[in-house]
Amino acid sequence: MCEPDEFDVVYSINPWMTRAMPVNRVRAREQWESLVSALERTGARVQTIKSPPGSPDMVFTANAGLVVGRTFVPARMRHPERRGERPHFERWFAERGFEICRLGTIIHEGAGDALPFRGKLVGGYRSRSSADAYRELERLTGARTATLELLDPRYYHLDLVFCPLDDHHAMVAPSALTEEGRATIDALVPEPLMLTADEAASFCANSVVVGRTVVMPACTARVRRQLEDWGFEPLVVDVSEFQKAGGAVRCLTLPLDLEPAMIGAEDSGGRRIARGIPTRRAAA
Ligand code: ARG
Repeated sequence: MCEPDEFDVVYSINPWMTRAMPVNRVRAREQWESLVSALERTGARVQTIKSPPGSPDMVFTANAGLVVGRTFVPARMRHPERRGERPHFERWFAERGFEICRLGTIIHEGAGDALPFRGKLVGGYRSRSSADAYRELERLTGARTATLELLDPRYYHLDLVFCPLDDHHAMVAPSALTEEGRATIDALVPEPLMLTADEAASFCANSVVVGRTVVMPACTARVRRQLEDWGFEPLVVDVSEFQKAGGAVRCLTLPLDLEPAMIGAEDSGGRRIARGIPTRRAAA
């Protein structure tokens, strides 16, 4: 996670970002701290990075890149407003011994658009990540991918519409998907929890699952009942200040525990990645 000191809404690169509702930075800091404690209470370990001045969206670390085993694939952001974040993330990972494995010229916005589920990497594309990025990610990481076109510009990243819960269950916002995307979900998810348009707009799907706890920005009684029936425990943490920038719980985190086997890459130890493809250490 990234310290929220620089967080603000000063430009608009998604439909949620408007100057009409200024960010309360004191509240943002409090909400971010509460999220860290909630995650730690569930048993997660949190590591942090600091944002340099002038990177108000760096707090949304889901878009830093994709971590697979000990390899970090930095994102290539669509919008110039976020491109300055990259060297800081690369340095953080290089200093901690990760191999840095760069995408070519393709646009991909990291873990916010790429979620592991049932031995595949499920990838979103359209207004942010480009569809072609998944062929390159397959080549770089050995992943097997399934892609979903994101129809609605309000749901520009996959983590706003799809939330894997365990191997059988996932929350899905079908209104943000194409007919083909809904068919892909039908084939992929044995038991989906289909979110209503209002639930999707409350960023219900933008949740972090730690064991059986689902750390969520919002949860309706209906969603809570279904999650509890499946043996999950919803834990709501208010991140409303960050929602002004179009992000919530999941966007504020980047998982460091994605193993190659979770996305169908041959070798569960991450060795295929270390062995089979050219990697470069970032200049520290
Ligand atoms: N303001 C940020 C942007 O538009 C929000 C990013 C949300 N991240 C996410 N993984 N959905 O880039």
